[in-house]
Amino acid sequence: MRSLVREHRLAIEQLVQPLFVVERREDAGAIEAMPGIARFELERAVDEARELHALGLRSLLLFGIPASKDAGATSAYAPDGIVQRCARAIKSEIPDMLVVADLCCCEYTDHGHCGILNARGDVDNDATVSLLSAIATTYAQAGVDVVAPSDMMDGRVAAIRTALDAAGASDVAIMAYSAKYASAFYGPFREAAGSSPRFGDRRSYQMDPPNAREAMREIALDVAQGADIVMVKPGLPYLDVLRAARERFDVPLAVYNVSGEYAMLKAAAQRGWLEEERAVEEILTSFVRAGADIVISYFAKEYARRHG
Ligand code: PBG
Repeated sequence: MRSLVREHRLAIEQLVQPLFVVERREDAGAIEAMPGIARFELERAVDEARELHALGLRSLLLFGIPASKDAGATSAYAPDGIVQRCARAIKSEIPDMLVVADLCCCEYTDHGHCGILNARGDVDNDATVSLLSAIATTYAQAGVDVVAPSDMMDGRVAAIRTALDAAGASDVAIMAYSAKYASAFYGPFREAAGSSPRFGDRRSYQMDPPNAREAMREIALDVAQGADIVMVKPGLPYLDVLRAARERFDVPLAVYNVSGEYAMLKAAAQRGWLEEERAVEEILTSFVRAGADIVISYFAKEYARRHG
C-alpha cells in the first residue's frame, strides 16, 4: 500500500555521478574527506565510467585536475587537456554515457579563483567569459555532450551559446550552475580538485546564502541567455530555493548535493551516528520532492548499486 501511494521516486537515470580525472599519476588516489570517492588517472576514469554505466547510471559530471596551472588557466582550453582527453576516451568507449563537463577556471588557475584577475587582483568578469567560451569550444570538439559553467560570471551563458553555435556545436547543451551560493559545503571538493583560492574568497561572484529572490533573478537571466538546464547548489541547505525555482521555471532543474553534504553524512555514518542507507535515501528523495529533475550526487553510484 505504501509503495502504491508513494508520491515521489528517484530513478537511477536522474542521477549524475561526479568524476575526478587527474593528468598526473601522482595526483590520483583517495580523497580523505570523501570516503569512497577517488581521483582517477585517465584509463581508470574510463574504467570507472564503464562501471557506472553497468550500474545503470547514464550521466557523469567530469572535473579535471591538470598537471600545470597558470594565471591564464591555459591548460583548461588545451585541445589535449585532461578533460578533453577523458571526454574523448569515454565517448569512444561508452557512447551512450552522457558526458557533462564542469566548466570553470578554478582548477586551472594558479591563484585558485574561478576567473582571470585584473591588475587590482579582482576577478575580471568579461575576460573570464571569453575564456569560458574558448574552453567550452574545446570541450565540444572533444565530444562533451553538456557543458556546465560553474564560475558564476555574468553573461557567460549567452557567450558560451554563441561560441558553441559558431563552432558548429549547436547540439551541445548548457547546464548552468545558476544559483550557486558562496557555501562552506564545498570544502572537501576544493581538496579534491586542488582549487582553494590562495587569497580572498568567492563571495564577489557566488551568491550570498541569505538571498532567495536573487536566485530567481540569476536563473531567469540564464534561461533568457539560453541555458538548457539550470541548477541550484548546494542542495540540502537550499531546498526552499529549489522548490521556488521549480514553481517558477519550466526548464529542467538540477540540484547539486555537494561534497560537504556527502562528507558530513559519511562522517556521521562512520561513527555509527546515522544509518547511512536510510539517510542517503531520505536526502536524495528530498531533492525530487522539492522539485529537482536531475540530482548530481557523490552518492549516485551507491544508490544505483542498491537499486539496479
Ligand atoms: C568549481 C566548482 C566547485 C564545485 C563544483 N564546481 C567548487 C567551488 O565553487 O568552490 C563544488 C562541488 C562540491 O563541493 O561538490 N567552481
